[in-house]
Amino acid sequence: KRLILVGPPGSGKGTQSPIIKDEYCLCHLATGDMLRAAVAAKTPLGIKAKEAMDNGQLVSDDLVVGIIDEAINKPSCQKGFILDGFPRTVVQAEKLDEMLESRGVKVDKVLNFAIDDAILEERITGRWIHPSSGRSYHSKFAPPKVPGVDDVTGEPLIQRKDDTAAVLKSRLEAFHKQTEPVIDYYKKKNIVANLHAEKHPQDVTAEVQKVLS
Ligand code: AP5
Ligand code: ZN
Repeated sequence: KRLILVGPPGSGKGTQSPIIKDEYCLCHLATGDMLRAAVAAKTPLGIKAKEAMDNGQLVSDDLVVGIIDEAINKPSCQKGFILDGFPRTVVQAEKLDEMLESRGVKVDKVLNFAIDDAILEERITGRWIHPSSGRSYHSKFAPPKVPGVDDVTGEPLIQRKDDTAAVLKSRLEAFHKQTEPVIDYYKKKNIVANLHAEKHPQDVTAEVQKVLS
């Protein structure tokens, strides 16, 4: 299966991805995670992306399209993939269609993590991540066994630089202006499934499983 996860910041895309990935043996391609790794490693891509990310704005279409074009060629992505955080503009969606068409495949389903903006600030400001694995926790909703420490590796957890209430405002603005039209783009193709992303994580997982079964 070839899936797209779309939803505002904090809607649960990164939380559901590992579960879907394991169940369907898909590869998980999260442009946000890939960009953060590039920023941390100070690669040319990271240097170009950093300012926009810190300010909660979208990175240029060319940069992210380039990352995805390369990533979907990986052998582990041939059976299917989960795109988490891509496409985020209609231009990116059109480029993705071209990429897939030239490979003779298409997007099967778009999971729309529908949720009210008001819930997102608490989710975003309470999030803690383990950078190398991408595992995420929440100080209230999904606390690690030891505060500030990853359950699996014992390594320290960090907070994302863009996870402040102020930057969230810009990220939400970008979502409504630039990414909501992407949902309409896929609605016209009749492949959008709406999820109740405000529910408990297990209930969201159950909805995902129902859609994909
Ligand atoms: P990205 O990393 O994609 O960030 P985002 O879209 O803002 O999404 P988040 O990662 O914040 O949210 P999520 O839905 O994954 O939430 P999570 O599951 O962790 O992008 C970052 C930046 O990179 C962008 O601003 C942009 O600059 C750039 N970028 C990336 N892709 C791009 C593209 N295609 N084009 C241009 N620029 C791009 O959950 C959040 C928290 O809530 C966690 O703590 C979690 O434990 C908790 N939680 C999750 N689900 C629930 C639940 N059901 N109930 C209670 N708590 C929950
Ligand atoms: Zn995420």
